[in-house]
Amino acid sequence: MSTNKEAWGSRVGLVLAMAGNAVGLGNFLRFPVQAIQNGGGSFIIPYLVCFLLMGIPLLFVEWSMGRFGGKHGNHSTPFILDSMDKRKFWKYLGVFGIFTNIAVAAYYCYLESWTLSYAFHSVAGTFSGMSQEGVNDFFTNYVSLGTNQPIVFWILCLLLNTYILSRGLSGGVEIVAKIGMPLLILFGIFLAIKGVTLTAGEEGAVNNGTVGLNFLWTPDFSTIWQPKVWLAAAGQIFFTLSVGMGSIHCYASYLKSKDDVALNAMSAGWMNEFVEVVLGAAIVIPISVGYLGIEKVVELTQNGGLGLGFRSLPFLFQNWGPFLAAAAGFMWFVLLFFAGITSSLAMGTPVMGFLQDEFHWKREKAAWTFGLIILLLGAPCVFFFNEGVFDEYDYWAGTVSLVIFAVAEIILFAWVFGMGKGWDEITRGADIKVPNFFKFIIKYVTPLFLLWVFASSLPDIITKISNPANGYVTAARIGLLALYAGICYVVYLAYKKRMREGRFH
Ligand code: ALA
Repeated sequence: MSTNKEAWGSRVGLVLAMAGNAVGLGNFLRFPVQAIQNGGGSFIIPYLVCFLLMGIPLLFVEWSMGRFGGKHGNHSTPFILDSMDKRKFWKYLGVFGIFTNIAVAAYYCYLESWTLSYAFHSVAGTFSGMSQEGVNDFFTNYVSLGTNQPIVFWILCLLLNTYILSRGLSGGVEIVAKIGMPLLILFGIFLAIKGVTLTAGEEGAVNNGTVGLNFLWTPDFSTIWQPKVWLAAAGQIFFTLSVGMGSIHCYASYLKSKDDVALNAMSAGWMNEFVEVVLGAAIVIPISVGYLGIEKVVELTQNGGLGLGFRSLPFLFQNWGPFLAAAAGFMWFVLLFFAGITSSLAMGTPVMGFLQDEFHWKREKAAWTFGLIILLLGAPCVFFFNEGVFDEYDYWAGTVSLVIFAVAEIILFAWVFGMGKGWDEITRGADIKVPNFFKFIIKYVTPLFLLWVFASSLPDIITKISNPANGYVTAARIGLLALYAGICYVVYLAYKKRMREGRFH
């Protein structure tokens, strides 16, 4: 049996940690950019449809699978999947639930460390009086490692993550979620109110017709059927909810077998949507559209998503006077930091759960091992950021892998494990009545939808594979493949060990 004795301290702590897992940099940085790049009003309807038909069903499925696995002493997806069917290959598909967390954490923690650094610089007054060009150059210089600062903040961020993980769920992760989530929402509400009440000349977000908000919220039916918009919406739902990653399974595996999953899953999922669609959409878009105009903002998001949050906001905040600029900058980057760390902690737990379950490692040893892996795997993202390594990790681990794993898990849950047993898992101990039509959606609609998403992404995947931008990108791909293969091998060793010890699930 597993000697892993982790547990959640309270239901509030669990829901906040799960919401923290979902609420991340994706809500505040990725969502607005996706919305802008995909035409604003043509994005939001596909996005909400994807949330209802893919996001919610996958939340039900992953929470239930996690709790089911936990009952058998499994806290990571290789053996959670293994416990649901007797065929041996599932555990190697379950490897995605460890691989993705490691590979995403490797670049995500670097991004998270920027927010820490920018919070410091906002308070230190670094951006005070800087022109837009100055703020822009600061960012370019930062990611080009013009100074050692990015490395210092990155290491600091890794140490923080590792230390908190080494304190366990109730003694570390849960405490950070209980402090970070309310603070994040408070800062978010303040900045959102500033954002939507902004009056900024001709393109004023509220004056002159709420330009920024109208851009997002006025449905544009002329472009709504473009597959590209749907794929972007589906990708955003995956990333923001952290579905298809394996971290939800892991958190849910520490529930007791009769604990509710249905209401908890909905609470965390809807909290994420509130933060994304209400707060996330009311900060970056109105402020940047308000001051810069739609055309300029669309242009700024052409080359990826980080521009607005780091290259523009610290400059735009200066319109509010020196004191408020520093305060708003601090709130914005601290908010991002808490959003980030509550997600990266969730990426650490499946790896730790696996090592604790299979090799009986102590929590501290598992946490520091995770930290070391992230250091090694994250280094190429730090040192070769401009060569595209960071984006490469994001594409394969943060986008493609999520869809592949979600296809596998929904087939296993609805068709192999069976919808009858699956429905029992979802509804057992439920504190809400889950509408019966979700049975139909989980069995037919979500799998078909996911297969469509995967099939439609194939041309892009093939183009990417055949055109690596440079040698660094090729090396990053080989590294990621080696990581996947390496985890498969460790899972194989764990399986052999289980056989020797007579532990079958
Ligand atoms: N769900 C996390 C985010 O949105 C990964 O950033």
